[in-house]
Amino acid sequence: MSRDWHAWHEEYADPASSRSRRLDVVRTQLRALLSEAAGPVRLVSMCSGDGRDTLPVLAETGADIDAVLIELDAELAETARRAAHELGLDGVDVRTADAGTTDSYRGAVPADVVMACGVFGNITDDDIAVTVARLPSLMPPGGHVIWTRGNRVPLDPTGFDGDPSDYVRGLLHVVGFEEVAFVRPDDAGFRVGVHRWPGPAAAFEDGVRMFSFV
Ligand SMILES: C[S@@+](CC[C@H](N)C(=O)[O-])C[C@H]1O[C@@H](n2cnc3c(N)ncnc32)[C@H](O)[C@@H]1O
Repeated sequence: MSRDWHAWHEEYADPASSRSRRLDVVRTQLRALLSEAAGPVRLVSMCSGDGRDTLPVLAETGADIDAVLIELDAELAETARRAAHELGLDGVDVRTADAGTTDSYRGAVPADVVMACGVFGNITDDDIAVTVARLPSLMPPGGHVIWTRGNRVPLDPTGFDGDPSDYVRGLLHVVGFEEVAFVRPDDAGFRVGVHRWPGPAAAFEDGVRMFSFV
């Protein structure tokens, strides 16, 4: 594991932190997508951590949702499992697995909502490109990805000259995604994007390495 992700989650304890503010934005965007859903929703969260950006929103909307959270760290995955249970979310499956390989998504996709939060700041630009190009195979036409990217994160692996969220947006645009929302606060380094895949349907493929954390 590349960093102490337990310590990373502790910043959420401060409601004024950039991380907590980012959390609010992610939840707001997820809430908005779920409120527009006409029927059952399938959701996948890659590198889901303890699931706090997703699980409370699923519980509060009461929507008919099957969710798969994929998290490599066994303790964080167990925390997410426990939270889902406590919130009465029967349709949540937390997989202790590597979200960097498509193998871990078998049976969970196509997902109407793909969460990619806290991922792109920890992988190389090349891996971001591979992952973005693979996203259409993880969702149906009309599906959405909610993603985050920090600006000026510690030990940033990017070689991009500028705000790295613009690198991600550029890739999404080239692949054919439509931007639904993009939040870039003036006074904080986090960025949150929501992009819609208009289609066509792309076949899911097993055994593809999308990314590894640096
Ligand atoms: C920056 S945190 C983001 C957590 C959560 N998505 C959030 O935004 O609150 C990154 C998470 O990715 C997990 N992680 C790292 N490499 C992973 C991999 N290959 N597959 C799945 N999870 C991974 C870490 O354990 C950590 O919980």
